[in-house]
Amino acid sequence: GKATRVKVYQVADMVGQRVRIQAWVHRYRPQSKHYFLVLRDGTAFVQTILTGDCIRTLDAIDLTVESTVEVVGIVEKVKEGQSAPGGVEVVVDWWKILGKAPGGIDAFEGRLTAKTEPSIRADLRHLELRGQTAASVMLFRAKMLRAFREGFEKRRIIEVTPPCMVQTSVEGGSTLFEFDYYGSKAYLTQSSQLYLETALPALGDVYCIQESFRAEKSLTRRHLSEYTHLEAELVFIEFKDLLDHLESLICEVVDTLLADPIASEIIKTLHPEFQAPARPFLRLDYRDAIKYLNEHNILKEDGSHHVVGDDIAEAAERKMTDQIGKPIMLMHFPKALKSFYMKALPSAPEFTESVDVLVPGVGEVVGGSMRIADLDELIAGYKREGIPMEPYYWFTDQRKYGTTEHGGYGLGVERLLAWLLKRYTVRECSLYPRYMGRATP
Ligand code: 4AD
Ligand code: MG
Repeated sequence: GKATRVKVYQVADMVGQRVRIQAWVHRYRPQSKHYFLVLRDGTAFVQTILTGDCIRTLDAIDLTVESTVEVVGIVEKVKEGQSAPGGVEVVVDWWKILGKAPGGIDAFEGRLTAKTEPSIRADLRHLELRGQTAASVMLFRAKMLRAFREGFEKRRIIEVTPPCMVQTSVEGGSTLFEFDYYGSKAYLTQSSQLYLETALPALGDVYCIQESFRAEKSLTRRHLSEYTHLEAELVFIEFKDLLDHLESLICEVVDTLLADPIASEIIKTLHPEFQAPARPFLRLDYRDAIKYLNEHNILKEDGSHHVVGDDIAEAAERKMTDQIGKPIMLMHFPKALKSFYMKALPSAPEFTESVDVLVPGVGEVVGGSMRIADLDELIAGYKREGIPMEPYYWFTDQRKYGTTEHGGYGLGVERLLAWLLKRYTVRECSLYPRYMGRATP
């Protein structure tokens, strides 16, 4: 009969039908009478069997993995006691090679392991992506972004796309990538926050999922020089509303992913002990965190104890979070450690209405705060940080033309993925990670 052209994910529901598939050879097992091929087209895997006339050609003998093939055959349930993806196999009666791969590569998964030299893995990222683990992380990533978009939609928060090329900095000058913009200086954006703030009077609550750039001069597990930044800005809120929003959105996204059959299967495979975090998240004041670090003998890099006013370094932050073993909302950082735009804590103005969400294995995944609404206070903030006011006139105008309380946050997409899927580094959670010394492929 006539064959129906299908994607591999559709095959499991087509028992008894004749199908035509175009796909890559993921695995190849020649035996005396049957050649088994596991095919992959990015949507799923399927086992196929070449038999009879199909293997009496030279082509079949020197078939290679990663070649592209077209096959036609009948979908059958696998026999009792045997297993195959989707519980089916395709018995092939016609096939041809579309693009022959050079061979010598046994399934990338096997070749590129954690033990492979990192620079070789990085050079071969385009091939590593074909492996099941890397592909699962990317598929999961797509589902997570979709879950966030649904969460925003449900809350009537509008998506905007701010510019990546800017002439102001948000998080300080030390990590700015600078470039020549028609003869004047411009930068790759560090955060879309300031632009989101300007959209509030036009659209109400807004969010974006946009690349941010940081000229990080260190190679850590959790720093990229280009990362996907999910940021939101909420208007007419108080600090408590910001905390509640973050907690409810993160939990909702996790629930959505666990309810999705494909996403939950990926979590189960890559992070079997993962459990949805309990609500409410632990809300920890910065000053209590300093106490915690000292009581648990978690020291600074120079071996001394932490004092109020200190930044909490990546290692100490992760140690504390791993010990506590669940998400933490770390609140009220000292003003001196934070950016110019952060609102002071009314009860103790040397601290701020700020929050980092910390998760086990990674540490900080979210940084957020209430913003200064008062014009004079904002101007004092520029002065304190030595920031020239002129380029920020449009941001300052927000405080002139109808100012109001508002706040927001930025979430590192790769960091959240590293937590959910238990990846050692955020580099595994980016399609083509960029970090110091690496912008290829
Ligand atoms: O804490 P950050 O620097 O905060 C801001 O940029 C704010 N303007 C965001 C806002 O309020 N709209 O960055 C926010 C988050 C961090 O918590 C972290 O998850 C992620 O962005 N992040 C990075 N992820 C990967 N590589 C880097 N170099 C990162 N720098 C920050
Ligand atoms: Mg931060």
